[in-house]
Formats: sequence, C-alpha cells, structure tokens
Amino acid sequence: MKKLLAPSLLSADFLHLEDQIRLTEEAGADILHLDIMDGHYVPNLTFGPPLIEKIRQLTDLPLDVHLMITNPEETIDMYIDAGADWISVHPETVRHLHRLISHIKDQNVKAGVVLNPATPVSCLQDILPVLDYVLLMSVNPGFGGQHFIPDVLKKVDAFLRLREQQACPQVKLEMDGGINRANIAEISKAGVEIFVAGSAIYHSENIAETILFMKKTL
Ligand code: DX5
Ligand code: ZN
Repeated sequence: MKKLLAPSLLSADFLHLEDQIRLTEEAGADILHLDIMDGHYVPNLTFGPPLIEKIRQLTDLPLDVHLMITNPEETIDMYIDAGADWISVHPETVRHLHRLISHIKDQNVKAGVVLNPATPVSCLQDILPVLDYVLLMSVNPGFGGQHFIPDVLKKVDAFLRLREQQACPQVKLEMDGGINRANIAEISKAGVEIFVAGSAIYHSENIAETILFMKKTL
C-alpha cells in the first residue's frame, strides 16, 4: 500500500491553527491525526467534538481521531457527527469492544484499536478481522515530544505475522509517538504503513519541508 503521513495537531500552534492546517494540507500530508485526551484515561487534556467540527469545515484531509478517553461508548456519536473519518480506541477503556467497533463501522467510519507499549499484540487475536487499522503506540499516551521506545518495533513483526495468519491484509498498521526525521526510515522498513508525527513536524523550523522530507523517506 501507499504509505501515509499523519501529522498530529497536538504539537501545532493552537493560536494559529487554521494556518497550520492549511500549511499541513498544502505540504502534502495524507491524514490529520487528532489526539483527544480527557484528563482521566491520560493525565493531559486536549479538545473535543466542537473543534473537530470546525477542523472538518477547514480541510478535506481525512480526520484520524485517536480517543484517549474513558468510556468512549458514551460519547462516540459526538465524534462521528463532528466529522471523524477514522476513530481508534484503547481496548482497556471499552466495555464491549466488538460492539463499539461494529457501531463505528456501521456509520461508515474506519475503526481502529490502539495498543500501548506494554499491551501485547496477542490481544488483537479475536478482533483483528473486523478492524480497519491497528495503532501501535511507540510512547506512553498522553503527551507529545516523548522519546520513541525502540522495543515497540518487535511488535510490528508480531502484528505482521498475526495479520498474515488471519489473512486480513486490509487491516492497516499505524504507529504513533516519537517518530522523527532520524528514525522514520527504519520504522518504515520494519513494515509500518501510517506514520503519526507531532513535535517533529510542528516544532521544526520549516513545517512544510519536514512534511516533504518525511513523505519522501517513507
Ligand atoms: C500521544 C499522542 C501522539 C502525539 C505524538 O499520546 O497520541 O499522537 O501527538 O507526538 P510526538 O510525535 O511528538 O511524539
Ligand atoms: Zn495520537
């Protein structure tokens, strides 16, 4: 598949969000990654459906909504209605995972499951075939600008084996956390297909040039 770059707005300049989104789109980003944090599941707090709705009006890029919230079943429809194209949930936050994934897909939104660095790939065993994507966290969720955890690359192998065993090549592999100009080539070589990067893009001197460089390197 064509590899995709998904800049994470978490590290963007929120006082100039509109400019930053336009710049991101013009530079050739494939997806916009939106980190939703509730101050409970993770210690940090970001934004919610009203801002997603505004972003939806601003760009045609697919919106990849990464929910780091407790009980996402209770509010999932707000994210769908706000215009999310992709939604991923952390399995430990959900009571009935299969039901929630089915609900998301029934609304024509792509559904993914996120694994924290300490969550084994084996927990995907009985849910993989119904997913559109799996997001492997390469940092502990909650903050941008953390260091990439190299051991997570071993999980890429485990995921690729499981995907092969279960014959479901349609399930895409995304990675999130600590991805930068220096390590993106190695991560791509390992088999990752969708790359989230926040601080490496938005804290760089030239956002557009960094996006171009990363896309070229995938
Ligand atoms: C962390 C978020 C990430 C974050 C990545 O919980 O899920 O998407 O924005 O930021 P960087 O690329 O700076 O690690
Ligand atoms: Zn994220």
